[in-house]
This record gives sequence, C-alpha cells and structure tokens, in this order.
Amino acid sequence: MEKFENVTYFNHPLIQHKISILRKKETGTNEFRHLVEEIAMLEGFEALNDLPLEEVEIETPIEKCKTPMISGRKLAIVPILRAGLGMVEGILALVPSAKIGHIGLYRDEETFEPHEYYCKLPSPIEERTIVVCDPMLATGGSAIDAITMIKKHGGRNIKFMCIIAAPEGVKALHEAHPDVQIYIGHLDRCLNEHAYICPGLGDAGDRIFGTK
Ligand code: URA
Repeated sequence: MEKFENVTYFNHPLIQHKISILRKKETGTNEFRHLVEEIAMLEGFEALNDLPLEEVEIETPIEKCKTPMISGRKLAIVPILRAGLGMVEGILALVPSAKIGHIGLYRDEETFEPHEYYCKLPSPIEERTIVVCDPMLATGGSAIDAITMIKKHGGRNIKFMCIIAAPEGVKALHEAHPDVQIYIGHLDRCLNEHAYICPGLGDAGDRIFGTK
C-alpha cells in the first residue's frame, strides 16, 4: 500500500487486540458496542494530540494560577450515521463537552454510491476541530461525501477516524481530501464484490445495533 503523509495507522497492541475480538463472528452486540467505544477512545487519545489549549485561571489549595485546559467548544464529533454513532461515546469520554453533529448517508445497494439524507452540524463549525467518525472505511464514498458536506458548511480543520479500512478507501479519501488527517485502527486486505472489507468484521451498523 502506498504511504500517505496524512494517514496514521495505530499499531498499539491494545487497539490491535480489541479489533481482533471485534472481528470474531461470535462476539455479541453488547461486547461489540463496548469494544467500538474503547477503540474510539484509544484512537481519539492520539488523534486529538493537537487540540488547542487555552490558559484558564484556577485556584489550587495553595494559590491562584493560570493553567492550560481544552475548550470543548472547539471540538465537534460528527458520526456518519448510523455505525459512526458507536464511536461517539468513546471520544466523548475524552472531551465530554464536545458538540456533536450528525451526517446521514445511505449506500445504493447496486451502485454502492452514497446519498445524503441528513446533515446537522454544531456552529460555528468553521472554528472547530472536527472529528468525522465511521468504523469502516470501505470504498471511501460515504467519508468523501460527508467531508464534502462539512466543508460546504464551512468546516476546515477535519480529521477522519475509522477502525478498519480497505486500501481502496484510504486512497480514494486521501485523493479527494488531501487536507484531512486520516486515523486507521487496522488496514485490511481489500473489498469484496459487495464492497465489504475483507477480512473485516461484517456490517458494523448491524453488529453495533443488533440488527440484521
Ligand atoms: N460497511 C461495513 O459495515 N462493513 C464493511 O465491510 C464495509 C462497509
């Protein structure tokens, strides 16, 4: 796989271990959901290492001082519906005051093309670091469309976080949005003829929500 400067792969053993459990077909809904949250939190810890800090005056038991704090008003988490919702709590655990937007896209079963049906973003979106999340980066179509929509609304500082990616999706997303930082838990082999990631974990939305 070609190397791209704006792509980060997490090779931390905890992330890799948890992804392996996610992949197992016998992993049930409850465990799957918790693992998605935990992986999102571990990835978020690294992906948010450049969050802006502001000096805030506080008082310790000893004296007043100025100390750096993250302003949650500066972060927007934007899950791509519906599987992206599974990652939100994990990132919120790190930055509880972050605002949350939503983007809804569905894939045409025949062409695999994404269609938008919902977009609601916290304002002022242009001033925020935006973390777009979707556990699976397959063809890249949904991520590309979602990020295009966010840019149309004025979003500029955009990161994309996923758990599993196919090489086809990474290349397409990088080419469409070279300014976006991409964070990937594990790079898989390829897409199959139904645009599922191989070996992947199946349909992430169905596994998070217990649907079929
Ligand atoms: N979306 C999923 O949930 N799984 C895949 O393998 C590809 C896209």
